[in-house]
Amino acid sequence: MSDVTVSSFPALSSMNALWQARYGTRPPTPPLPESPVARSLMAHRSVRAFSPTALPEGVLEAAVAAAQSASTACNMQAWSVVAVQDEQKRARIAELAGEQAFIAQAPLFLAWVADLSRLEQVGRAQDCALPGRDMLDTFVTSVIDTALAAQNAAAALESYGLGIVYVGAVRNQPEAIATELGLPPRALAVCGMSVGYPDRNHPTSIRPRLPQHVVLHRERYDAQPSAPADIAAYDERVRAARASQDQPARSWSESVLARLDNAAALHGREHLPQALRAMGFRLDQA
Ligand SMILES: Cc1cc2nc3c(=O)[nH]c(=O)nc-3n(C[C@H](O)[C@H](O)[C@H](O)COP(=O)(O)O)c2cc1C
Repeated sequence: MSDVTVSSFPALSSMNALWQARYGTRPPTPPLPESPVARSLMAHRSVRAFSPTALPEGVLEAAVAAAQSASTACNMQAWSVVAVQDEQKRARIAELAGEQAFIAQAPLFLAWVADLSRLEQVGRAQDCALPGRDMLDTFVTSVIDTALAAQNAAAALESYGLGIVYVGAVRNQPEAIATELGLPPRALAVCGMSVGYPDRNHPTSIRPRLPQHVVLHRERYDAQPSAPADIAAYDERVRAARASQDQPARSWSESVLARLDNAAALHGREHLPQALRAMGFRLDQA
């Protein structure tokens, strides 16, 4: 069924090999306990070149069942997902979402939607005004639910040998995306996800991450005097990894600055507060 699974990378078939690939350092001792689920998660890499082969029957339903199995605040399940297979629709979404060609190429696009509209229906049926619907925390809760669901689906899809890449660029023009997907008021496509079998001619690699001690704090947050040196070393790793994959040389710090120190890089996302209000979200109820 699949052409790329964890087991098809013999060199990456153990937790320790995956640690080495992720961090570029020797794994800790004693060795990490083996787990097929953790191995699959650690083997993740975004895929941006897909074969046209359709997903096998049942895989979408299995992925959504995995998504619905994620924890959800107060069991509110404040999310929905729109599965788009139609080629022309995917091409239009690609155009709206930063002209990213892989959206049109991959056989399936999933739009992960923070959805307060269903909760509103429950309120209406019981004649309740639902002031909590307009609280910022309810919106945040819905976005968290959506992200957890999406990531469970991603893990399930990767376990079937499929590749995925998230698409945050659906928030470049959130209202146009909502219209394309027919979303009701108070529903925001938080992120998209292109899904398909990875194109064997464009293999992808595991992307290095910050050293674990930079993100893992024990008992209390540690200001970490070593952080600048850690980040400088990580910058070099990222630069070397990109060079080895024929990508333009760029360090992690340079990528962060290109994104956060440059309003043009937001591609319209700076207007998200206005767009959210226009889409029926208020976010100001105390
Ligand atoms: C919320 C979110 C939005 C993303 N949006 C995009 C996107 O629009 N285009 C893209 O090519 N990659 C996108 N990505 C993928 C990230 O660039 C990728 O996860 C990151 O560079 C780490 O690489 P890896 O997933 O291969 O480990 C997104 C990832 C997340 C979590």
